[in-house]
Amino acid sequence: MERFVVRSGAPLSGTVRVSGATKNSGLKQMAGALLAPGVTVLRNMPPVADLDVMIAVLRAIGAAVEWSGSDELRIDATGSLHPEAPYELVTQMRASINVLGPLLARCGQAKVAMPGGDAIGSRRLDMHFRGLEAMGVELEVVHGFIEARCNALAGARVVLEFPSVGATENLLAAAVLAKGQTIIENAAREPEITDLAAFFNRMGAQVFGAGSSTIEIEGVDELLPVESEIMGDRIEAGTLLMACGIAGGEVMLEGARFEHLEMVALKLGEMGLRVSPTPDGLWARGDGRLSAVDIATLPYPGFATDFMPMAVALLTVCEGTSIVTENVFDNRFGFVDELVRMGADVRNEGRHAVVRGVERLSGAPVQANDVRAGAALLIAGLGADGETTVYGRRHVDRGYHDLAGKLRSLGADVEALA
Ligand code: UD1
Repeated sequence: MERFVVRSGAPLSGTVRVSGATKNSGLKQMAGALLAPGVTVLRNMPPVADLDVMIAVLRAIGAAVEWSGSDELRIDATGSLHPEAPYELVTQMRASINVLGPLLARCGQAKVAMPGGDAIGSRRLDMHFRGLEAMGVELEVVHGFIEARCNALAGARVVLEFPSVGATENLLAAAVLAKGQTIIENAAREPEITDLAAFFNRMGAQVFGAGSSTIEIEGVDELLPVESEIMGDRIEAGTLLMACGIAGGEVMLEGARFEHLEMVALKLGEMGLRVSPTPDGLWARGDGRLSAVDIATLPYPGFATDFMPMAVALLTVCEGTSIVTENVFDNRFGFVDELVRMGADVRNEGRHAVVRGVERLSGAPVQANDVRAGAALLIAGLGADGETTVYGRRHVDRGYHDLAGKLRSLGADVEALA
């Protein structure tokens, strides 16, 4: 069984380069590449398991996808496309839904399997649907598939009920080639949205205001393929910062951007971990046991939900009691019972968890059920006596490129075993 084995040891020390954000940014640009007939080149895309799924989705649609380096992909979307994303792939990875907008723009129709719920919540798609309908798309869910078609996409003003990352991305991708102007209000402001908008603009799109709550898109007639460098993975960087909070020590994270991690740095600072920007990344240092703080997750620039499990892992060994509130997903505390198996004192009720810090956790076999929960259990092992085995490693490998290797290069005793 694929697993991580972690033993607590010396404080972390050293420098590590943060990988490209394949999962949260790269996959969206891969889908976006469908908009430009020709060869798009995406760099800084280290392989993670979800990338294999997106490659399979694009190939099923008719694009040619090839590796042209260890972290460089070439996507050729020249030929005619078969606008259908099959069930076996979409159920493996929800981000497959990101092909919906590009397929409608390019082919005027799309058939994409309806993703189900997953380990962190029900994850509806109503905002994607309402936005696309406002742009002239007829859409229904039939036999488990989203069937969508339009004569021509027309720009529209769309107000999102919640700043959904996926809905913002899908509508943005639909709007860049739509006729006329689209305005997305209450848009998600995550840096990955800005990365996607910059990618589209390099292709010839007219996207204004990405990174703010109002995005304006003037539709253009065509987009041209470009070469793009994917942003550094802020979630990986945050994970490594929290690992440093648990294990103590001093780390340099090259390629991480302070402005993407301000709220995390603020909270970690309140806890007693010093985090500062450097010319090429981030520096962090922690001495001794950190102090508890309360955390509430929110859309960017708030404290990201993807950091919450790792933050809980850190808080389990802090001095004092914290209240953690999850405001983005409805069922994201499943991992807490595994931390309790390691001796953590955490009580979860609905959207809240009360974490009472203990001096040390105790190493135990635990099971990961999603990507960030797995990372949380892995770094919890750094603060646990004895050995922790994290089963379900494949969940972590969906989104992280060699997290164990990065921790090891900082001096942690972590192995990834097959
Ligand atoms: C993306 C990220 C994920 C991150 C999340 C929030 C990727 C591959 N995934 O997921 O890592 O945790 O953003 O930052 O980039 N919702 C609706 N209706 C909709 C759309 C969303 O109710 O039409 C709800 C969801 O159920 C969820 C919340 O809105 O409760 C946020 O979802 P969303 O921002 O869309 O997350 P994803 O794009 O799926």
